[in-house]
Amino acid sequence: MKLTVVGGGSTYTPELIDGFARLRGTLPVTELVLVDPAADRLELVGGLARRIFARQGHPGRITWTADLDAAVDGADAVLLQLRVGGQAARQQDETWPLTCGCVGQETTGAGGLAKALRTVPVVLDIAERVRRTNPGAWIVDFTNPVGIVTRALLTAGHRAVGLCNVAIGFQRKFARLLGVDPEAVALEHVGLNHLTWERSVTVGGRDVLPELLAEHGAAVAEDLRMPRALLDRLGVVPSYYLRYFYQHDEVVRELRGKPSRAAEVAEMERRLLEMYGDPALDEKPELLGKRGGAFYSEAAVALTASLLRPAGTHGGAGPDVQVVNTFNNGALPFLPDDAVIEVPAAVDARGARPLPVRPLEPLFAGLVANVTAYERLALEAALEGGRERVFAALLAHPLIGQTERADRLTDELVAHNREHLAWA
Ligand code: G6P
Ligand code: MN
Repeated sequence: MKLTVVGGGSTYTPELIDGFARLRGTLPVTELVLVDPAADRLELVGGLARRIFARQGHPGRITWTADLDAAVDGADAVLLQLRVGGQAARQQDETWPLTCGCVGQETTGAGGLAKALRTVPVVLDIAERVRRTNPGAWIVDFTNPVGIVTRALLTAGHRAVGLCNVAIGFQRKFARLLGVDPEAVALEHVGLNHLTWERSVTVGGRDVLPELLAEHGAAVAEDLRMPRALLDRLGVVPSYYLRYFYQHDEVVRELRGKPSRAAEVAEMERRLLEMYGDPALDEKPELLGKRGGAFYSEAAVALTASLLRPAGTHGGAGPDVQVVNTFNNGALPFLPDDAVIEVPAAVDARGARPLPVRPLEPLFAGLVANVTAYERLALEAALEGGRERVFAALLAHPLIGQTERADRLTDELVAHNREHLAWA
C-alpha cells in the first residue's frame, strides 16, 4: 500500500508517522511519500520519519520530493495537510478581525474565511493533478477549513473525505474519564466541522452522557474552558470551537491581551525542527503533544484503512463507522444535500455515507443552518473571487452579520491576503 502526504514537511508529520508505525496491523503501509515545496523541512522531517519507522521495526519505505505528480503516481490514498502561507498567514487571520471586535481564529469567522480563500484554489489544483495521474486514489483531507475544503472537493467530483480530530479527541477523553477502552465508546457527534455537539456517549449499548456530566462535568467544562452550568443547561457537550460563539465577546477580550496562537505555534515549530535535525532522535518528541492535533494519526489510520479495505472484507459486520466530513444527502433534512456535515458515517471502499441522525433541536439546528449558508457563500467567494462575494459571506456569518462590520472586515481580509488572491 502506497500513501502520499501532501504537506509532508509539516512539523505534524512525525505524529502521523508514529501512528502508521504503531498501527501497522490496521494499515500496512509499504511506501510513504512526503511531498512539500520546502526542501529544508522535508529533509529534517523525512529523516526523523525514517528513524521512527526503523526504531519501531516498520519495513515501509519513506521517500520525499517536491514533485507532486511523481509522488501521487500509484498511491492508494493521498493525505492533504497543507497550510497556504504558513503560520505567518495564520498570524494575520488571528489578528486583524480583532480590530473590528470579531474573534481572530484560523477556522472560525473572518479569519477562517481568509484561510478558505487562500486554500480552496490550491487544494483543488492538487486534487485535479491527483485525478489526472491517479484517478482511483482516495483523498483524505485534514486541510482547514475542513468543511469548506471538503465541500469544494466533493462538488468538483473528487473521491474525498474530510477529517478532523475533535471527535476522536472526545472519544479518548471520555474513555479515560469513564475508565473504559476508547473503542468501547460511541459518540453521537453532530454538526459541521468545528461546530459540533456530542449528544450521547454510548458504552455497552447505554447512553452514559447524563452520568458522565454529573460525575465529570467539572473536568469536561474546564477542558473546554466553558462554564459547567452551560453544559448542564445544553445537556450535550459542545466542541471547544463553540466557545467562539457562546462566549464570543469574552474570547475577543482575552485574545486581545495575549500573543496569538500562531506566534506560539511558530515558536514550537522552530524548536521542533531543531529537534528533528538531531540524528539521535527516533520518536515523536513530547513537545508535539502541545499541538491541537492530538490523535489525528489514529483517526487518519482508521479512516484510510476503511476506505482501502477491499469490498466484502469489512468483517461481515458491514461498513466501519467513523466520524467524517461528507455530503449531507438528507441526514440533516433542513440542509441542502450538498452541504458537508460532520457526523458518524458508514465508510468502506465506496466512500462515506452519513448514518441517520435524530432530528436536531432548534438550539443547535439554527446555528448549523446559518453556518452552512455562510460556508456555501464562502466557497463561492473562494471559487469565483470578488469583493462582493467576500462581503456576502461575512454578512451571512452569525458572528458578523452587520453591514459596516462586514465591509471593514472585507477590506482587511483583502488587504492582508492580496498575494494569495488572484483577483485582488
Ligand atoms: C485541532 C483542530 C485542527 C486544528 C488544530 C490546531 O486539532 O481540529 O483542525 O488544525 O486544532 O492546533 P494548533 O496546535 O495548530 O493550534
Ligand atoms: Mn479540526
